[in-house]
Amino acid sequence: MAEKRKIILDVDTGTDDAIAIMTAYLDPDIDLLAVCSVAGNKPLPYTTENTLRVRDVLRADFPVYRGCATAMVSTLLPNRHGGYSGQRTQVEGMEAPIEIHTDYLELPPSTRPVEKEHAVWYYIDTLLRSDGDITLVPVGPLTNLAMAMRLEPAICAKIREIVLMGGGCYRTNTTAAAEFNIWADPEAAQIVMDSGCPIRIIPLDATHRACINADESREFRALGTSVGKAVADCVDHRILAYSHLQPMERLDSAPIHDALAVCAVVHPEVITKSIFTRVDIDISGGLADGQTIVDPRTYTDRPRNADFALDADRDLFARWMMDCIRRFQG
Ligand code: BDR
Ligand code: CA
Repeated sequence: MAEKRKIILDVDTGTDDAIAIMTAYLDPDIDLLAVCSVAGNKPLPYTTENTLRVRDVLRADFPVYRGCATAMVSTLLPNRHGGYSGQRTQVEGMEAPIEIHTDYLELPPSTRPVEKEHAVWYYIDTLLRSDGDITLVPVGPLTNLAMAMRLEPAICAKIREIVLMGGGCYRTNTTAAAEFNIWADPEAAQIVMDSGCPIRIIPLDATHRACINADESREFRALGTSVGKAVADCVDHRILAYSHLQPMERLDSAPIHDALAVCAVVHPEVITKSIFTRVDIDISGGLADGQTIVDPRTYTDRPRNADFALDADRDLFARWMMDCIRRFQG
């Protein structure tokens, strides 16, 4: 039997982060060492509590470490909002405005506490002690990881691979130029791009090609388990929010960005098209702030630093999600 892939997930939970945690925990080929929280979709107390709620639903015992509450430096620029994922709209007949992530996931309050150690120290301690066999999967702003790299650069040589959700070349969401995770902490993202670690980027170009639809959500619910219901609730919420805020080609479907990154760790073939090239982040504070600049030139003389996904196998992703979630009993 092949050895399980050791991963640390870094999340700003979040409806799609929640599904990323559930699939990472339930995938038989993944050894989920820990989950670190970071501010992003919502302020840190919410993203941490939501992460703990998801752990409870799974009845899992992986440790959860609280990470950074603000971006590294981006809040210092007056033109930046330095904010959370705030897109929302008021729809007639609905009490609360529709947003992609509510403050709290609709799950019971958590029953077990977060670890005492800070996520950044956890990264440093764990990576330095490791055999270089740990894969990092950040699916929120890259603050924790960049902080750890700045504090102890020796960790970079110990990272097997970084598979991150973020960025977009032909597709963006937060501004005309930028995707949310990168926009929320562009300096952190550039530090990671310069780290010299093997990096695979799963951007919107791939995640928008792998949307999960309402029929599939019904199948998750029909599993009759607490986890199946939690997944279906998140998917249904996302389908409703996306149809109002960021309509996809198929209206009754939504991307589950963060879970695609988890899938790509153990099933790289889910990414059907990618470009290995130079990727940098615009940190100018201008119109393109937070943009992932993907060098399309075959003759680029800058060192190539990342494999940037451009397309994904939707059906494979949907089957994988179902296979993972079906494993939860009870
Ligand atoms: C990313 O931003 C967040 O809203 C999602 O959780 C995902 O990680 C998509 O742009
Ligand atoms: Ca996220």
